[in-house]
Amino acid sequence: MSKGFIIAIDGPVAAGKGTVAPLLAKKLNGFYLYTGAMYRCLALLCIEKGISTKDKKQIIKILPFFKMHFNGDGIFLNSKDVTERIKKEDTAMGASDVGLIKEVREKMVNIQQDIARDLVNEGKIVVAEGRDTGTKVFPNAEFKFFLTAQARIRARRRLLQIEDRGDKKEFDDVLRDVISRDEQDSNREIDPLAKDPQGLGYIVLDNSEMSEKETIEKIIRRIKNDKN
Ligand code: DC
Repeated sequence: MSKGFIIAIDGPVAAGKGTVAPLLAKKLNGFYLYTGAMYRCLALLCIEKGISTKDKKQIIKILPFFKMHFNGDGIFLNSKDVTERIKKEDTAMGASDVGLIKEVREKMVNIQQDIARDLVNEGKIVVAEGRDTGTKVFPNAEFKFFLTAQARIRARRRLLQIEDRGDKKEFDDVLRDVISRDEQDSNREIDPLAKDPQGLGYIVLDNSEMSEKETIEKIIRRIKNDKN
């Protein structure tokens, strides 16, 4: 059996992680661990229950009833398929809100570490994607990549995703959302998005001028080089 290992991919909003990481996992025949989905699912649970995503007390109360799982490409919240629902912008900002809470992060990190431990023990490659996968969740990950791009380019990409879903938004509003979520994710007290990723051992890839295909090729070349 080949040896399993972890590839951590972190970065700000719409840096391409969400397309690059699952494709990379498929190419390597590995498991795609989308950690943002877990925070988005908890935000959705709050929305469904009419709880504000900023209401720390209520969120800690419902935390024991939060159950989500991955199945193939599907994401399930309490057995309901929410794969498409959690792509909406209300769950994105809500996820950033619930991710500020210490108790929430502890629970999510434990689940993520449990999932990865079992898979790595089975000899699988885990591609973990989020904000803190290379710092808090898997500090000893074999590879750590930090994907980034200029804010206006990321906002443009996010707007295209929104339009692809048949929704409408103004570019300036999307840009404002991107910047405010980045600020909240980077400035929170617990396990923030790295401000000096290189200093924290990440390989930084600014893909402002790169296609997704080029980004994946760069990552695979780097992994192959280091593994040989
Ligand atoms: O990657 P994403 O856009 O789906 O993440 C949504 C939000 O969830 C993000 O703005 C912050 C939070 N998040 C987090 O706090 N930690 C992670 N490891 C992943 C996501």
